[in-house]
Amino acid sequence: MGEEINDNPSGSGPADNTVAEGNGQTVEAGVQYYTLEEIRLHNMSTDTWLIIHDKVYDLTCFLEEHPGGEEVLIEQAGSDATESFEDVGHSTDAREMLMQYYVGELHMDDRSEQKPNEGNDAKPGESSSWTTWLILAIVATVVGIVYRFYVFEHKSS
Ligand code: HEM
Repeated sequence: MGEEINDNPSGSGPADNTVAEGNGQTVEAGVQYYTLEEIRLHNMSTDTWLIIHDKVYDLTCFLEEHPGGEEVLIEQAGSDATESFEDVGHSTDAREMLMQYYVGELHMDDRSEQKPNEGNDAKPGESSSWTTWLILAIVATVVGIVYRFYVFEHKSS
């Protein structure tokens, strides 16, 4: 079953309700973590779990209520449905509904690599290379103007 990180039973350690994991990550205490392997077992209409944004939801009771139909949820059962969930463009209401079905978090080891700039299409370093080109263009223009001015001055004198 899921791995529970208990609430600091010894009384020592950090007092801010967080514990450090062996992999250097700090995670909230008392949160239930599930591995992908465990989540995959909940892949049927009588037991339907989904991962959305690294959070795990038990949607078994919601299947019949889902305005988009139960099939789409069952198809994705036991797996990561983040992309399909986002592709549909679910409303804020739909996002708030998710909370009722929350059962825990995807285990840190099963999360995909860090997603820097999530929700932002710019790649790291892209904006700095863009500014470099802009500065080069400005410098080239200024040099061009100064040169033309210099040549013009020499011709007229
Ligand atoms: C996992 C939790 C989910 C919840 C709580 C949820 C909730 C909702 C709600 C409330 C709506 C009505 C429209 C809205 O308010 O956005 C909706 C529509 C819809 N959902 Fe979901 N949904 C979930 C997952 C998914 C997934 C994983 C898929 C796709 C594979 C999906 C596909 C759809 C579709 C296609 C509609 C559109 C129905 C229409 O416009 O006719 N939903 N969902």
